Amino acid sequence: IGKEIHYFREVDSTNEVAKKLARNGAPEGTVVIAESQRRGKGRRGKKWISPLGGAWLSIILRPNTLPINAPQLTFIAGVAAAQTIKNEYGLDAGIKWPNDVLIDDKKVCGVLTEISTEIDTIDYIVTGIGIDANIDVNLLPSELQDTTTSLKSELNQDISRMILVQKFLGNFEAMYDEFNKGNFHEILKKWRQLSKTIGRQVEIRKGTEFVRGEAIGVNSKGALILELDDGTLRKIISGECRHI
Ligand code: BTN
Repeated sequence: IGKEIHYFREVDSTNEVAKKLARNGAPEGTVVIAESQRRGKGRRGKKWISPLGGAWLSIILRPNTLPINAPQLTFIAGVAAAQTIKNEYGLDAGIKWPNDVLIDDKKVCGVLTEISTEIDTIDYIVTGIGIDANIDVNLLPSELQDTTTSLKSELNQDISRMILVQKFLGNFEAMYDEFNKGNFHEILKKWRQLSKTIGRQVEIRKGTEFVRGEAIGVNSKGALILELDDGTLRKIISGECRHI
């Protein structure tokens, strides 16, 4: 991973650039990095604010297991980011299901995975990771300020984004190798250790529907298991999770 790196001063979205490179046959492990994004994309069609100072990158993957399991690869990225932030900076980073990285309940990193469509002849997957590294949280839109943090604001100093990205890619690669060997359970074990969701009361929203309960675990595919107030269990495959 990272043998080929495409670096840009500014792009619309590194995921879009990576998808285009992938369609044109870029090898597995190709990384796209930009200093800033004009139209950074978040999950559920949301905009991802991507000013200078962040680490905005996308990785092209061609996993050897088909069909491609996007949620599993997204887990890998979340675990790799949380591990990196914890180990390199000593911050208490954890994961909110499925893969937001939080420090003290504030988001510092998000992951957006996209899969090739049928019109693309070669299968690929693009995993995009956004880490609020050297970002001044008070310069972000006001509605984000209470729920967002950055490495800079946690540490009161700038960090080296070069080292951050290097360490992240190293952690990601180690887990991706495990995944390709069929050892996803090892990754889930790490995910569970880093989870800030398990054991908490959560609210899951999907469109206009929502359900509340205690998060009691994740299954082997990464779905969240909720125990509702009446004691019944509910498996949640996707949705927006809020800790309550
Ligand atoms: C989320 O939590 O909503 C996911 C955010 C993902 C942001 C990253 S930044 C690099 C890559 N390019 C994008 O346009 N989005 C992802």
